[in-house]
Amino acid sequence: MMGEALNRVPAHVGIIMDGNGRWAQARGLPRLAGHHAGTKNLRRVIRAAASAGIRHLTFYAFSTENWNRPDEEVSGLMSLLAQFIETETPELHKEGARLLHIGHLDRLEPKLRQKVESAIELTKNNTRIDVILAFNYGGRDEIVTAVREIVAAGIPAEEITQQTLSDHMFTAGIPDPDLIIRTSGELRTSNFLTWQSVYSEWAFPQVLWPDFDEAALAEILDDYAHRDRRFGGLNKK
Ligand code: FPP
Repeated sequence: MMGEALNRVPAHVGIIMDGNGRWAQARGLPRLAGHHAGTKNLRRVIRAAASAGIRHLTFYAFSTENWNRPDEEVSGLMSLLAQFIETETPELHKEGARLLHIGHLDRLEPKLRQKVESAIELTKNNTRIDVILAFNYGGRDEIVTAVREIVAAGIPAEEITQQTLSDHMFTAGIPDPDLIIRTSGELRTSNFLTWQSVYSEWAFPQVLWPDFDEAALAEILDDYAHRDRRFGGLNKK
């Protein structure tokens, strides 16, 4: 059931877009220039992923810990989110992408929150690819949020299963990520899709996020297709 034939193309890919700061530093530019280049790169990677047949693509854009960065960088990232939604939504909509958000939107400025909500509403019936933005997202926070919901719903302890937890994650209804890519050579998971990633395959390309292109994605997808996913069991050879 879980043999090699099934994992040729991952259904759900998560991406930790790391290395924007170093990309900028290498060019003598401010860190925000790196985030700007990183935001532009989403476009080419979304298109390449859709062409490859990936159905759900999750980008880690802002973590619950990123609030600790300098104010200027935090507000720069907020502006980039606004800019991304404004400039990319019409095109993404035309191409059949459904925009989703995971995390808490309530800490964002009402205007920005509204922009995100209307892009989600506009694209809600699209089926080609889900573009999922993790913004003000943290994996542990997501688990705590789910537990609170379950307790508030009065679900009896003995009825709580792993599926109950999955159903209360921000990602309810979306399959767990098959593959997670972290660019820039850092080897950490950093609170990304903590509940969902237990059997994900991981890839850690050296390339900095703004330079991660179609060829880099193709190489990882090719490698993924040859991996033997066993989910703790054994595959028949
Ligand atoms: C990590 O690089 C990147 C981030 C913390 C932010 C990622 C955000 C974007 C690509 C832009 C925002 C996206 C949207 C959709 C608005 P780093 O800054 O930690 O890089 P460094 O480790 O080289 O310093």
